[in-house]
Amino acid sequence: MADVHDISVRPRPKDWILGIHAYVPGKSTGADGRALIKLSANENPLGSSPLAIAARGAAAGDPSRYPDPDSNALRHGLATLHGLPVDRIVMGTGSDELLNLAAQAFAGPGDEVLYVRFGFSVYDIAARRCGATPVVAPDRDFGTDVDALLACVTERTRVVFLANPNNPTGSYIGRAEVARLHAGLRPDILLVIDQAYGEYVEQGEDDGAFDLAAETANVLVTRTFSKIYGLAGERIGWATGDAALVDMLNRIRGPFNISLTGQSTALAALQDQAFVAASRDHNLAERARFVAALNAMGNHGVRPLPSKANFVLIEFSGKLTAEAAYLGLMDNGYITRWLPGQGLPQCLRITIGTAAQMDDIAAALRQMAEAAK
Ligand SMILES: Cc1ncc(COP(=O)(O)O)c(C=O)c1O
Repeated sequence: MADVHDISVRPRPKDWILGIHAYVPGKSTGADGRALIKLSANENPLGSSPLAIAARGAAAGDPSRYPDPDSNALRHGLATLHGLPVDRIVMGTGSDELLNLAAQAFAGPGDEVLYVRFGFSVYDIAARRCGATPVVAPDRDFGTDVDALLACVTERTRVVFLANPNNPTGSYIGRAEVARLHAGLRPDILLVIDQAYGEYVEQGEDDGAFDLAAETANVLVTRTFSKIYGLAGERIGWATGDAALVDMLNRIRGPFNISLTGQSTALAALQDQAFVAASRDHNLAERARFVAALNAMGNHGVRPLPSKANFVLIEFSGKLTAEAAYLGLMDNGYITRWLPGQGLPQCLRITIGTAAQMDDIAAALRQMAEAAK
């Protein structure tokens, strides 16, 4: 009979779970615990829509009861806004849940999940969680290289993740490149196009992801309420694709995965497209001003990479290092994202904040770069 008190015997995690490094969230305090202005998690500096805040405050239902398991009103709202059939929309507890479910539904031990180097860090976790092998294609100047991705496809590839725009690089590929990537993949490979920052792309520019999701059987597009809608704390994402793909995700998602308040808050947020437009305009203007200020700094090896998202990745190749800039900005009251854990020790990712914050940061970086020896 086993000794039930023998603590040397423990449940054994799966080997593939042991290989996972937990997701590192953006910080909001310095090493000394001091609260800092948080530009490390790509949250919306304008907050959330007043309509969403009001809907969240008004008791949206009886909290002793489960929410609508299918988020019907919210899915109808999304269907109307985006011109999609409602049965092709599935909700997730953040788009994170959907990325994980997509990998889990279509890949497992012995299979490969492919994405580009410097892709969103959750892809590695999503692949390993289901026992699949993550395969990382080389980047092209920090951005997506379609040829490199296609060259990494093997007979074991089951899922390809593409963040467009990508986090943490801000890089983006246009419609023709996305179409070329899709056309180069076997039809039994699922292409997940992660558009967490899709609404930040200039109006009129379109990578064609929704069209591919509507017209083909192997493309899933994910979106989120965490970024431009300013509802990161509510944890709401959604995906669209072929009905059979949506069906698979519905089978394995949490049955009540969007809370009562989450459903009504997000629905109200959808109805305030003026807030979305204001957030997009603010981001385009402030990102352009910030990038211009960095480029005007002169030859200090401080290079902002082209970004289509609500952040800028800055490469430091001069005397001022990314680590020193990160620590210096912290002294100035700002927490940004230094990325040694993602193979980018020379880079800092800075979320676009308010105009005053971006002026302050550009001035601090200039001062640090000029003073660096
Ligand atoms: C590219 C990308 N995809 C997905 C997500 C997940 O967002 P959420 O789970 O809040 O919807 C993020 C969040 O930072 C992201 O950057």
